Amino acid sequence: MKAIISKKYGSPETLELKEIARPGLKENEVLVKVHAASINYGNIVLLRGKPYVARLAFGITKPKFLIPGGDMAGIVEAIGEKVTEFRIGDEVYGDLSGSGWGTFAEYVAVSDQAIAHKPSNLSFEEAAAVPMAATTALQAIRDKGRIGTGQKVLIQGASGGVGTFAMQIAKAYGAEVTAVVSTRNVEIAKDIGVDHIIDYKKDNLANLNQLYDVIVGVNGSQTISTYKHILKPNGIFVHVGGSSSQMYKTMFIGSWVSLFGKKKFVNFMQKPSKKDLVFLKEIIEAGKVKPVIDSSYPLCEVSKALKYFEEGHSRGKVVITIH
Ligand SMILES: NC(=O)c1ccc[n+]([C@@H]2O[C@H](COP(=O)([O-])OP(=O)(O)OC[C@H]3O[C@@H](n4cnc5c(N)ncnc54)[C@H](OP(=O)(O)O)[C@@H]3O)[C@@H](O)[C@H]2O)c1
Repeated sequence: MKAIISKKYGSPETLELKEIARPGLKENEVLVKVHAASINYGNIVLLRGKPYVARLAFGITKPKFLIPGGDMAGIVEAIGEKVTEFRIGDEVYGDLSGSGWGTFAEYVAVSDQAIAHKPSNLSFEEAAAVPMAATTALQAIRDKGRIGTGQKVLIQGASGGVGTFAMQIAKAYGAEVTAVVSTRNVEIAKDIGVDHIIDYKKDNLANLNQLYDVIVGVNGSQTISTYKHILKPNGIFVHVGGSSSQMYKTMFIGSWVSLFGKKKFVNFMQKPSKKDLVFLKEIIEAGKVKPVIDSSYPLCEVSKALKYFEEGHSRGKVVITIH
């Protein structure tokens, strides 16, 4: 099979397209013919081996996962002896970042616990865009933000892969959603149907006189005092991503502020979850959430796709088409 191979940490140019043997199958695994994959920030960490602390999981001197690629959607080609949930021909999707990676390839062998049936109303490209970005948005909003109907939610940096899901998931939970985007992305937020839009190129969050129950920090960076100023008395700020300075501000200043008042600041790390994939399939099939695709690249252009994603301005998800 054709696969993208990563032998050393470095730039996207270090990746090579190779012909290698198809993976073997363990008794609890499913062999998936991968139709599409997608790109997340985790791919960049695995590619570059940075931040260095990630090498504790990914390999100290070189990547221990030869084939990068976490998200995928495809068709079950073969099943291990102990697999009962899936049959050959089933359409599946999953986030394999916690179970060996390997999706920038024509086939991948994966534990049946890492995948779920694909939403039936999505193409493979659309389904491959969902797993990591949508579970990140879901876990941040539902589990950390504990969103409720009618609550006011601000999504800071709403136009990328995670943010476009976050806007829709917050709406699906009945929240009143405000999206912070750049001028060029105002239309995306309008199309999704958020209640209010703040153009960060023109407006300053510090001047807002609105208060929010939940602020989800997906991209960009603000001071903790700015967020504190616009949080309700029991409000919570959930740091998902953006600049590393925002992560440290939340971790140190935010945690300190949380100790002395009811406004809380928390950092958050997504965990791949089969249960969440099943839940996302339901809300996608109910028409509440639809992936936003920025662009698609063929398998041989994974390097180009990673370079584009790394520039940090993609609108929605960057997808890799394989079969
Ligand atoms: N905590 C976790 O477990 C977890 C999981 C997944 C991802 N993440 C993090 O979440 C973040 C978003 O990931 P992603 O995949 O959604 O990224 P992405 O798709 O690359 O996000 C790019 C989008 O963000 C917008 N943007 C860039 N700078 C901005 C700013 N200063 N203010 C507001 N919007 C800005 C860009 O539009 P403009 O440039 O036009 O504004 C673009 O539309 C990343 O930092 C990633 O590391 C965290």
